[in-house]
Amino acid sequence: MQTDFLVIGSGIAGLTYALKVAEACPDKTITILTKTQSDETNTKYAQGGIAGVMDFDNDSFEKHIEDTLIAGDGLCNRAVVEIVVKEGVERIKELIEWGANFDKDKEGDYALGREGGHSEFRILHHKDVTGKEMERALLEAIKSKPNIQLISHCFVLDILTQHHLGYLVTKATPTIECYGVYVLNLNTHKIEKIVAKITLLATGGNGQVYRTTTNPAIATGDGVAMVYRAKGRIENMEFIQFHPTALYEPGVRGQNFLITEAVRGDGGILRNHAGEAFMERYDERKDLAPRDIVARAIDNEMKINGTEHVYLDCRHFSKEKFTEHFPNIYDKCISIGIDITKDMIPVSPAAHYSCGGVQTDETGKTSISNLYAAGECACTGLHGANRLASNSLLEAMVFAHRSYLDAVNKINQVAFQQNIPDWKADGTSAPKEMILITQSLKEMKLLMSDYVGIVRNNERLQRANRRLDLLHEETEGLFKRTIVSPQLCELRNMITVAYLIVKSAEFRHESRGLHFNTDYPAKSDKVQNIVL
Ligand code: FAD
Ligand code: SIN
Repeated sequence: MQTDFLVIGSGIAGLTYALKVAEACPDKTITILTKTQSDETNTKYAQGGIAGVMDFDNDSFEKHIEDTLIAGDGLCNRAVVEIVVKEGVERIKELIEWGANFDKDKEGDYALGREGGHSEFRILHHKDVTGKEMERALLEAIKSKPNIQLISHCFVLDILTQHHLGYLVTKATPTIECYGVYVLNLNTHKIEKIVAKITLLATGGNGQVYRTTTNPAIATGDGVAMVYRAKGRIENMEFIQFHPTALYEPGVRGQNFLITEAVRGDGGILRNHAGEAFMERYDERKDLAPRDIVARAIDNEMKINGTEHVYLDCRHFSKEKFTEHFPNIYDKCISIGIDITKDMIPVSPAAHYSCGGVQTDETGKTSISNLYAAGECACTGLHGANRLASNSLLEAMVFAHRSYLDAVNKINQVAFQQNIPDWKADGTSAPKEMILITQSLKEMKLLMSDYVGIVRNNERLQRANRRLDLLHEETEGLFKRTIVSPQLCELRNMITVAYLIVKSAEFRHESRGLHFNTDYPAKSDKVQNIVL
């Protein structure tokens, strides 16, 4: 199969880009691939909303820029922050034109919410299901573009480069080129090659590397792992954001339900088991301090008190006020026997967002020619050492737009690569035991949560590294002798991503933003990005 533009991922980044390219190039073909159902993305689960300066009487670009830089703890690229904050407003308007609805107040103005680290009310939202509304609007909008083809249940295995033409490709190769991808088409159960002139990686995050995460099952870091295998550059992987308030449900593993930060923005208070509102002991911004600070404070309270969670107290909200903004959370709590007007909500931190990823420049270009990246899989320089809440949907749209502008200018100078060989499956056989995959997966999640979580130290990182080495060796052996399956490929990708997180964490000899190492508790004077 050949396509002019290939898009891997059907979340906010992939769909925004595809829509724009389709509009600008009606004579070109655009193919979107997604590994499960079209709407099964991190985007669909976004709750709080999208940050943007909408109320210029009280807010300003400068304030949003400042808040983003403070959260990023000295590691943001200021030029990128300015780009995202300033261009983001236009992108939000486009999203509204494509049909996304955001809540308004009685006067008809957008009802803006507030979250941790924001000095002003600037979060547009659709109740507490903002992402679902955005995903709906975008999937609806692409239906009107006849030159877009969306293929679901199509698992991308690897990106094609000169390596597949028989050349030696290393990190030192001056120009690595992307020619498309190999995919496991789960509709036909065949491995196919899709040759493309330009490819956008929009594969989302990697929360599934951890035992407790707000991310859905698709978030396995495939894009980052593929680029690393292709010898592209990966940046700042140590900065994994733990959301302070995932719902604590004993026994639930895989995807933990999120209690949006907007609940604290509206007045929710964190309390420990003694009922103390402990955040004032940690930061003057209390419950609305940036996420790294709140998550570490909760982690500390849990460790001191030997508990598995703390509480979020919303008992002072009226039921009407709570259900108007947070109907989804209200229903979820009721379904497990928690009435938020009488009971406090048990919450604990969970892996939520990857600030690092595939290194890009200001136009979304990666270190591999004809390969762009946008959304959570990318590291653009916006988030630095810690992402400001609700900045990621914004970043995804801004960089999808910038990638589109660059790609449409370039497309006519790129030719299809004709000589790609078929995928070689010689010598592989059907997997004998799934336990070889599932047990390794459990081990990896456990060691990442216990050794490479919110608080780290050198010994834990070394232990994690050694155990990952063994899992890597065993999984590569399995991969070579087994017919590929999504489960095996995801395990392989997650082990790669876990390795990148640990390695980057080992290289950072300081504590900054989301990376806290008790052996290096202070910030270093040398501000550097870790590139692998
Ligand atoms: P995604 O939306 O995750 O889409 C990834 C796509 O890539 C999927 O279609 C998937 O199938 C596809 N894919 C992945 N690997 C492969 C493969 N190998 N082959 C084929 N396809 C593949 N951010 C905010 O700004 N505001 C919020 O309020 C907010 N709330 C959040 C709440 C939750 C519970 C979560 C989990 C995240 C939240 N975030 C929020 C973060 C934000 O939702 C994500 O960062 C963003 O949606 C990522 O969008 P994306 O387009 O990069 O990727
Ligand atoms: C939330 O709603 O708390 C999540 C917001 C985000 O991750 O940006």
